Amino acid sequence: MKILVTGSAGFIGFHVSQSLLKRGHEVVGIDNINLYYDPSLKFARLHELGINKEQASAHNNISQSSIYGEQFKFIRLGIEEKENLSSVFETQKFDKVCHLAAQAGVRYSLENPSAYIDSNLVGFANILECCRNHAIQHLVYASSSSVYGLNKKVPFQEEDQVDQPISLYAATKKSNELMAHSYSHLYKIPSTGLRFFTVYGPWGRPDMALFLFTDAISKKQPIKVFNKGDMQRDFTYIDDITEGVIKVIEQKEEKRIKKNEYYKIYNIGNNKSEKLLDFIMEIEKHLGKKAIMEMLPMQPGDVQKTWANINQLIQDYGYSPTTNISDGVKSFVEWYKSYYKI
Ligand SMILES: NC(=O)c1ccc[n+]([C@@H]2O[C@H](COP(=O)([O-])OP(=O)(O)OC[C@H]3O[C@@H](n4cnc5c(N)ncnc54)[C@H](O)[C@@H]3O)[C@@H](O)[C@H]2O)c1
Repeated sequence: MKILVTGSAGFIGFHVSQSLLKRGHEVVGIDNINLYYDPSLKFARLHELGINKEQASAHNNISQSSIYGEQFKFIRLGIEEKENLSSVFETQKFDKVCHLAAQAGVRYSLENPSAYIDSNLVGFANILECCRNHAIQHLVYASSSSVYGLNKKVPFQEEDQVDQPISLYAATKKSNELMAHSYSHLYKIPSTGLRFFTVYGPWGRPDMALFLFTDAISKKQPIKVFNKGDMQRDFTYIDDITEGVIKVIEQKEEKRIKKNEYYKIYNIGNNKSEKLLDFIMEIEKHLGKKAIMEMLPMQPGDVQKTWANINQLIQDYGYSPTTNISDGVKSFVEWYKSYYKI
């Protein structure tokens, strides 16, 4: 199968691309390698896929992998570049699209709203138009647990109302689901939105808690613990996320189409809500160092607890997350130590 993966230099996009390649699929990766966090980590991920920094830096130029050959190609491109994106679809002729490129992060959306409008709304609309114009068999895209906003009923279920986002980031993710619904309905494009719940693991994002905490604890610097530690997250290990995404991409759409189910949304999480302080204890254990905690109030835009009901993904795709936080944090810390040579 030939698959477009957007955001392929990003945390999840890198892992999904690598896994698709190992399973024998042909992948074209797109990413604008923006400066939201250290781009050297994005270049390093691409390097693992056989694309060197020089190749990855050239704008709108298609490069071939030195590891996977013709099977993996990369183009540095912004999804808001409508014409360029459209010619990639025209020339590459994809079967399916896995759309993971987005401006991520809740806190950053308070300071930089326009980045979210450009990538998550304009960019998403361009992806939809390309899927429509190029007869894409299935659009699989990243939504987020943040759409549940201040919902109190846990675990969160796909049917729960999600009309009260508390950050612009969450609002753009909910908008993506609505936009996908209209395209699936009007143009019969099968689409699946996956609401990711706090993804962590090797090659993870430097703006997320696990990375920030590991970095600070290893340097004996204080960590910022919001809501005085009274937070819970459904932490989901990257391999479990990748497994779920691949299952959705690989499944044939015929059955869904027969049942007229063009539009689908699923939670993808670990189905356990872990206490933030327990998560920090795991980092301390695997680093062999104690955290210096700076207890702070709740941040605007943040929610106190997330917890995913994943029954629908289990039922329809046989999804089965297996990694507990102790094993997952251990893998991250091992990767962090070897990557940063500490
Ligand atoms: N990591 C999580 O816990 C989590 C949780 C919920 C949802 N998500 C969603 O999953 C997806 C992947 O997240 P991630 O953690 O890998 O983030 P990431 O920031 O590591 O990856 C996103 C990639 O997209 C690229 N990108 C951003 N805007 C772009 C644009 N306009 N054009 C082309 N490329 C662009 C970035 O350079 C980056 O490499 C995102 O849609 C994110 O919102 C992630």
